[in-house]
Amino acid sequence: MAKKTVSLGAARAKRREATAPRAPKRPLPGFPATRLRRNRKNAWSRTLVRENELNAGDLVWPLFVIEGQSERAAITSMPGIERLSCDLAVEAAREALDLGIPAIALFPNTRPDLRSDDGAEAYNPDNLVCRAVRAIKSDVPEIGVICDVALDPYTSHGHDGLLIGDVIDNDRTVEVLIKQALNQVEAGCDVIAPSDMMDGRVGAIRQALEENGQHDSQIMSYAAKYASAFYGPFRDAVGSSDRLKGDKKTYQMDPANSDEALREVALDISEGADMIMVKPGMPYLDIIARVKETFGMPTFAYQVSGEYAMLQAAAQSGWLDGERVMMESLIAFKRAGADGILTYYARDAARLLG
Ligand code: PBG
Repeated sequence: MAKKTVSLGAARAKRREATAPRAPKRPLPGFPATRLRRNRKNAWSRTLVRENELNAGDLVWPLFVIEGQSERAAITSMPGIERLSCDLAVEAAREALDLGIPAIALFPNTRPDLRSDDGAEAYNPDNLVCRAVRAIKSDVPEIGVICDVALDPYTSHGHDGLLIGDVIDNDRTVEVLIKQALNQVEAGCDVIAPSDMMDGRVGAIRQALEENGQHDSQIMSYAAKYASAFYGPFRDAVGSSDRLKGDKKTYQMDPANSDEALREVALDISEGADMIMVKPGMPYLDIIARVKETFGMPTFAYQVSGEYAMLQAAAQSGWLDGERVMMESLIAFKRAGADGILTYYARDAARLLG
């Protein structure tokens, strides 16, 4: 008699299959023939059987830039992180390179008077982030420079897109994002990272890059980016939190969804993304695992500002061992399948890794 199929839903059944442990060739002998603690007994043995490794080469260091010379400004909600003027960002880039960190990601804190409803400062060739890119690329050309594509550091309302009334206009936003992306590439940025979550923006940016002879510009798309409360400290850092009207739920993803992340990623790959990202990190390890398993693409996790703030706050209170939770949180991304991690801990972790 034919077995009745359980109505799990194709996607769920497939996911089960993907995550189910593969049956061993021979049945695993039971205790005491098998004692899993044997391999754990000595440090050398634990090293030998370790499945995943974290290297400085897996890390991307996000940096916040501000106007001025020799200026640093603390971010209260991100203990240990400072916004840096361009000259200091160059020093940080040099330090990252020396530590073996392959790339940095730049985020500008735009002067209030340069923020506007249309976010036009985003495509000013002399804007803060372009000046930072040029300074870094002329002094530390070997380091990869990643720039965000989204309008939130430039809009008076703090949204990633253009507001028409109280609605984000997707297609008009994409037109501006194209200009922003080309502007950043012309300044010398290596990797364009659209974090705005507008539909069709990866394809539109890719086409514009091709038409402008920028065939080798990489796109790291924030493909599965969730509408998360964990971005709070970042918005403090770039100065958009007090401005933000409403929330970003009409463009960033619902934290309840998983299949939808695969659709987002599939689209961005088809539109020309070279690398894809899942964001936030730790609460979304299941998404990283599914995305890597499904597409086999270079896959990145963003351990976002709120994750960093949470660990730092507990460490500063003496409730958690800061170094150990940092390293444990980072190896978790590798275990989940990420090829690399954007993390505010990049410098600290790289120092520790030696
Ligand atoms: C901008 C952007 C955000 C982050 C990266 N790019 C904030 C947001 O979408 O509101 C968050 C990074 C972090 O929290 O560390 N679109």
